[in-house]
Amino acid sequence: MNATIETLLNNQIKYEAQASMQYLAMASWADATGYNGVADFFYSQSEEERVHMTKLVKFVNERGGKVSIPKLEEPKATYKGLNELFEKFLESEMFVTEQINHVIYECLQHKDYNVHNFMQWYVTEQLEEEAMARTLLDKLNIIGNDKSGHYLFDRDIITIAAAQDNA
Ligand code: FEO
Repeated sequence: MNATIETLLNNQIKYEAQASMQYLAMASWADATGYNGVADFFYSQSEEERVHMTKLVKFVNERGGKVSIPKLEEPKATYKGLNELFEKFLESEMFVTEQINHVIYECLQHKDYNVHNFMQWYVTEQLEEEAMARTLLDKLNIIGNDKSGHYLFDRDIITIAAAQDNA
């Protein structure tokens, strides 16, 4: 495996791991704050990111590359409210998309079509996750600071997310 690509894939392992821990911290904050629907949503997002990370670890090993399991930064643990929580969610997904695009670009530069092909799954996944984060943040922006709106958002988030997934 090309050394640059190997480094980029290892970086990506870190970003997916970091997102997984970040969403776990978000789930825990929501759980402790009484937003049980939002907590379930982020527990499940955290699991998904873990799957993204593990898929990369297995791929690099299969290709004979060297995996380095990274040390992570401590995730942000407290939020002013749902709006800030979902702003950070969208920011995180946009960051991951940017990094994936960078890997894709380098794959083309190095003519590594195998990794390029493997990364297409991530491109599709990111499109869906970014769209989901945007939809949820849009709804929160409409709701503003309305407490009963937040109550309904928390009650309905799993349904909204499922509908978005099937869209
Ligand atoms: Fe796997 Fe949503 O980044």
